Amino acid sequence: MKLKTDLYTVYGDLLLEKDTEVSAAVVRKIRQKGEKHKQVRVALKNTDIFADFQKVFDDKRYINMFKGPVSKSEICNIAGKLRMENDLIFELSYMKNNLPYTYDHVLIVTAFSIKLALTFRPEDYDMEVVSHCGFTHDIGKTRIFIGILNKTSKLTREERSVIETHPVIGYLLLNYYLKSDRRDCTLANLEHHERLDGSGYPNRIKRIHKYTQLISPIDVMDALMTRRSYRTKAFSLRAALDYLIKQADMNRFDKNTILTLISFARKDKPDIRKMYISEEPREALPEELTHDKYR
Ligand SMILES: [Fe+2]
Ligand SMILES: [Fe+2]
Repeated sequence: MKLKTDLYTVYGDLLLEKDTEVSAAVVRKIRQKGEKHKQVRVALKNTDIFADFQKVFDDKRYINMFKGPVSKSEICNIAGKLRMENDLIFELSYMKNNLPYTYDHVLIVTAFSIKLALTFRPEDYDMEVVSHCGFTHDIGKTRIFIGILNKTSKLTREERSVIETHPVIGYLLLNYYLKSDRRDCTLANLEHHERLDGSGYPNRIKRIHKYTQLISPIDVMDALMTRRSYRTKAFSLRAALDYLIKQADMNRFDKNTILTLISFARKDKPDIRKMYISEEPREALPEELTHDKYR
């Protein structure tokens, strides 16, 4: 894959020129550049991002889903303990100012990723990695021309291919910003639009890292449930979950992850092994203006 524009760090230093083929050697070079760059890690709980994160739990769309065995304080405790690279704090502040709906989205994705990891087998996950992946998975979007992200009509093939560079851009930025002990955190960036049947992008892979598998279904759920310029209105929670279960039936997502999200949405939080899922579509989907379900 080639980038469609020059790639700069948040400080304006050129990392990669437009049209350079992104190869393993290029990634290595970027890592080497990053090693020389001085890094300070900051406890997230001492930042404005953490104050914003705590407000996620008041989002009316998700109030019921956040109720249940895993509490807000457990989730906040984990997110607050994350020590994040100072550069990434700047990246997220930049996102907050320039792409506020993406910023709100990454906070929601992080909160649900932690909740999913705690609901599955917490011992299988490094919670710092889960939080880090959630907060940073869409930083590449800040380098995509806003006119394309907000376009109300159907994207051209060229515009679609520009949007599809954002996982690679995020991956390159993280390879620059992160030390080698945080390499696991780069994969959710690269893979969060990949699907288990190989139908995703950018690399159409089928083996997807366990941290990415927490993030990608929530990523879609929240994208569907947010008002966008190219849809008449947002999906309801039920319609979004119907969409996800169909995707799981097509082997695009891990079915147990989707069933767990559905159990979060039910009042009685049933055990997923005993949960009944109706085949009937429960709610009409909102009218689509462009046939883009999400961007
Ligand atoms: Fe994304
Ligand atoms: Fe996302």
